[in-house]
Amino acid sequence: MPKKNTPHSSLLTPHSLLITGGAGFIGANFVHYWIKNYPDVQVTVLDALTYAGNKANLAPVENHPKFRFVHGDIRHYALVLNLLLDQEIDTIVHFAAESHVDRSIHGPDAFVETNIVGTHTLLKAAKAAWLDTPSAAMNTQTSALGPQPSPYRFHHISTDEVYGSLSPEDPGFCETTAYAPNSPYAASKAASDFLVRAYYKTYGMPMTISNCSNNYGPYQHPEKLIPLLTLNCLEHKPLPIYGDGLNIRDWLYVEDHCRGIDLILKKGRIGETYNIGGNCEKTNLEVVHTVCAILDELKPLSSSTALFTSYSSLLTHVKDRAGHDRRYAIDASKISKELAYMPIETFESGMQKTVQWYLEHPEWCKNVMGENYKKWLAQNYS
Ligand code: NAD
Ligand code: TYD
Repeated sequence: MPKKNTPHSSLLTPHSLLITGGAGFIGANFVHYWIKNYPDVQVTVLDALTYAGNKANLAPVENHPKFRFVHGDIRHYALVLNLLLDQEIDTIVHFAAESHVDRSIHGPDAFVETNIVGTHTLLKAAKAAWLDTPSAAMNTQTSALGPQPSPYRFHHISTDEVYGSLSPEDPGFCETTAYAPNSPYAASKAASDFLVRAYYKTYGMPMTISNCSNNYGPYQHPEKLIPLLTLNCLEHKPLPIYGDGLNIRDWLYVEDHCRGIDLILKKGRIGETYNIGGNCEKTNLEVVHTVCAILDELKPLSSSTALFTSYSSLLTHVKDRAGHDRRYAIDASKISKELAYMPIETFESGMQKTVQWYLEHPEWCKNVMGENYKKWLAQNYS
């Protein structure tokens, strides 16, 4: 019989976290954020180390006594179930995904596999570990005081791209905006969101979802716009801007995103979705000019080695992305009213930190820009 699932505040206190995709961009930033703020909580990262996963992203925490890395795939049911039971996981923060729109255009299968099948495998394992055992039945009992807060949480990281594309005059996406995904990536994330919701409605899975806007910050793979522009500038390579460059994204500094997830985990209502945005809409042209202006300051071009005086001379309009969404914007009033969430970083301060980080980590950059990356550039930009 379906479990009773009236939304209620969970006031969760995680004791043992499973962070999927923790060797990727946002996952690694979240691991750093979490260990810095809650050093006594056990953290297990499960990551398949695809082209986007990088153990070097976790180097600063690898010797922390509460940190454990498991190399494995979220589609491996037995592995996930054993981890949940052995590590007594009470909180899953699910980042693992294929995350790049352009790659989903060239090869959608991996997106269906990881984002849909992988999320479903995690849900099945969490149900078996948390809901299908006799002790779990005790935990979800309703008492004379009403529904008891669950000691467990499945938090699913999703994207604003599930809502489709906005016109210039449209209000930002809110949690009740109808889903209208346009890329195979967005469609696979939408499907995973629906599975998480269905496990809540049908089986009482204690879940929350966050749909965030475009993140930027340290450790982002250079296939994505901001690191791509930064690293191309440093190599004096063209800065490829799709179409007219007037597509708009709402940029969110990754640490602000991590704070939002933390608030949802601890105070969010089970069964609810929260949108997280940066309140920072920029056209791609504004983004490229910001990167160039920062580098013009931090790493001025020398007249003896460069044929131009500003990095912005490298800007090149290239063929548009198929099905390119015109505008994303988040209405974050729900998380702001319910959980007192506000992004701290401005675009100027966040971009300064980000570009500086890439300048200070040449080895990291060199390692992620190997043969595989070169193949990708040839495939996507030829
Ligand atoms: P990323 O591509 O940098 O990292 C993904 C990580 O998942 C990698 O470490 C990879 O090895 C791992 N992974 C992939 N397939 C796996 C599998 N089958 N099993 C285990 N691990 C696997 O992604 P990101 O940018 O950090 O995004 C994290 C999450 O946030 C994703 O769910 C993405 O959809 C969502 N999101 C990202 C953004 C953004 O701007 N980057 C915006 C909105 C939502
Ligand atoms: P991206 O970082 O791929 O994120 P998303 O597609 O998830 O929004 O791209 C951000 C914006 O930058 C998007 O409008 C596509 C555009 N873009 C370019 O113009 N050139 C590029 O080489 C890339 C990778 C993206």
